[in-house]
Amino acid sequence: MSFLSATLSRVKPSPTVAMTAKAAELKAAGRDIIGLSAGEPDFDTPQNIKDAAVAAIAAGKTKYTAPDGIIELKQAVCAKMKRDHGLEYTPAQVSVGTGGKQTLYNAFMATLNPGDEVIIPAPYWVSYPDMVLLAGGTPVVVETSLDTRFKLTAEQLDSAITPNTKWFIFNSPSNPTGAGYSRAELKALTDVLMRHPHVWVMTDDMYEHLAYDGFEFCTPAQVEPGLYPRTLTCNGVSKAYAMTGWRIGYAAGPVELITAMRKVQSQSTSNPCTISQWAAVEALNGTQEFLAPNAALFKRRRDLVISMLNAVDGIDCPTPEGAFYVYPSIAGLIGKTTPAGTLIDSDETFCTALLEKADVAVVFGAAFGLSPNFRVSYAASDAALTEACTRIQRFCASLV
Ligand SMILES: Cc1ncc(COP(=O)(O)O)c(C=O)c1O
Repeated sequence: MSFLSATLSRVKPSPTVAMTAKAAELKAAGRDIIGLSAGEPDFDTPQNIKDAAVAAIAAGKTKYTAPDGIIELKQAVCAKMKRDHGLEYTPAQVSVGTGGKQTLYNAFMATLNPGDEVIIPAPYWVSYPDMVLLAGGTPVVVETSLDTRFKLTAEQLDSAITPNTKWFIFNSPSNPTGAGYSRAELKALTDVLMRHPHVWVMTDDMYEHLAYDGFEFCTPAQVEPGLYPRTLTCNGVSKAYAMTGWRIGYAAGPVELITAMRKVQSQSTSNPCTISQWAAVEALNGTQEFLAPNAALFKRRRDLVISMLNAVDGIDCPTPEGAFYVYPSIAGLIGKTTPAGTLIDSDETFCTALLEKADVAVVFGAAFGLSPNFRVSYAASDAALTEACTRIQRFCASLV
């Protein structure tokens, strides 16, 4: 009998972690690797947020809290939902977890039974399918394409729904493509969902504030109030406030679901870090003035990367609406060979060769469920991005 659980055997190790480990290994060996694989802002947490954490420590706010968060943070989440989306929630409808990841995980653990299906548009954030598997459910992956700029169509959603569908997971702007759904595109999806009352919506709004060119962010319960009773709106402070290490995420939804999620959390991690919760109160209630300049900075970097990648013969890089990722297609490079004789037969061989020969770390598309592509995180300095894209250009030009 295996010592490890059968559930764990269904889950694959993270390919992004493997790629990052390989890059770290080469760096440790003295190579000048440029890493564009990390999913976090490259700037520091704003000072007012750090100050709030220091003040919390000084005031002795260093003990356990309620498992799913302090009332002050839940109230701040309610105020944010009202302010940004016109959605009314009470603190009893809010769950705070150790990062956005834990709130999503809690929701799946609290609701999935064997046979329950979760519709996941691909390319997807790497954790969605594995979280569903860990919770005992069945991921139903629906591939999008470059033609729709990686957005799921209403027809695709409709045909993926079965009597066993429990959740539809929605992520806009998206990791890994940056694609953001317009109000009309989202309405087309919510219209489908209104015809299937047994399907719940888990929306991951983590990249809400990272949107460019006047893109209007919308969340499903706002676009279709009829979905409010079966929507879990998930968000967090990690990306918008450069707080990845603080580990605070939150979700708002029906009381029964929030209560079930609390039960999961109370028997696993208990409350998220108390000091981080107080910092998150400041993030949500304090000044939001750095959001616009940060978005402007990311937009400039996005445009830089896209123009340099699209200058490469064989790469096609659409312009996404948000997040800090681009997801270029390398369909035009498949079948070519490196000067050392390696056949580029997949995005994985492309990214491995790029790392080994050109010292640039990116993540291959197969990790996100759609090939042949790669993900570039442009949360890096202009100089690093320019140098990395120059290396990518040189590497691609060397392929025959
Ligand atoms: C789409 C998406 N959702 C959720 C998360 C989790 O964020 P957190 O760091 O708050 O757990 C990430 C982090 O990369 C993400 O990209």
